[in-house]
Amino acid sequence: MIACRTIAVANQKGGVAKTTTVASLGAALAELGRRVLVVDLDPQACLTFSLGLDPDAVELSVHDVLLGRVSASMAVQATADGVDLLPSTIELAGCEAMLLTRTGREYTLRLALEDVADSYDVVLLDCAPSLGVLTLNALTAADQVLVPLQCETLSHRGVGQLLDTVHDVQRLTNRGLQVLGVLPTLFDSRTTHAREVLADVSSRYGLDVIEPPIAKSVRFAEAPARGRSILQTAGRTPGAAAYRALARRIAGMAEPVPARAAALGDEVIDLTNANEAVST
Ligand SMILES: Nc1ncnc2c1ncn2[C@@H]1O[C@H](COP(=O)(O)OP(=O)(O)O)[C@@H](O)[C@H]1O
Ligand SMILES: [Mg+2]
Repeated sequence: MIACRTIAVANQKGGVAKTTTVASLGAALAELGRRVLVVDLDPQACLTFSLGLDPDAVELSVHDVLLGRVSASMAVQATADGVDLLPSTIELAGCEAMLLTRTGREYTLRLALEDVADSYDVVLLDCAPSLGVLTLNALTAADQVLVPLQCETLSHRGVGQLLDTVHDVQRLTNRGLQVLGVLPTLFDSRTTHAREVLADVSSRYGLDVIEPPIAKSVRFAEAPARGRSILQTAGRTPGAAAYRALARRIAGMAEPVPARAAALGDEVIDLTNANEAVST
């Protein structure tokens, strides 16, 4: 990768694996030798916690960076997963109100990240479950947006709203923003329901489905308490393999699979290393 690429992971619905995707994809990209920064843009600070930091003990956070108190590089911390983290704290909850009073408020994150752009190949932005000013900042700072989607009834309802926001951003603050596609998460390949929802969302909004889907696995719920991503806590499981496959695609190291066909079939382990795929 030559220029730094920034990807926002966004969906205003909570619990669709945005944070899990940022942590796991970030760790998988770091394994591939990419220099990765992950940015926690949620006042709940789940990404910060998941990567082993106590949000209550963080001294400099993305909040201080957005308010211009310190540069991004001063607030960045290394993690055990090999990615750097711009952490969050609950203070970020007050940041939206502060930003609202400022001129150019949507550009604050974009400008702040210029400070670290030379130090990273990929920057992943973990958005909060809202379409507020912080998410607008993420979409304005990003080259691409990835939309994790839990494939269940009514999942599509939020997607239309998110895409409306993306179109506003493309029109007003970030003309170059691309939609990378929908990443099926918490995917249950044993039923046809998830596939039907996915096909509906894909055709309704003309979105690419990113392959392979991330299967549902209890291993994902176990990882955050250990302060590591699943790549380290359960690195030889299909879930870890799926994020490694996604990382290879994003890094341009895997042949693109005909997205729709593969995502709708039973090819969860299609792009993965056979050793990783067979263990549980
Ligand atoms: N593939 C998966 N299988 C099972 N549980 C998952 C999976 N991905 C994420 N989870 C769990 O689902 C919950 C919500 O995930 P999270 O990444 O915090 O979502 P979001 O950031 O969108 O709110 C967490 O408890 C997480 O551990
Ligand atoms: Mg989250």
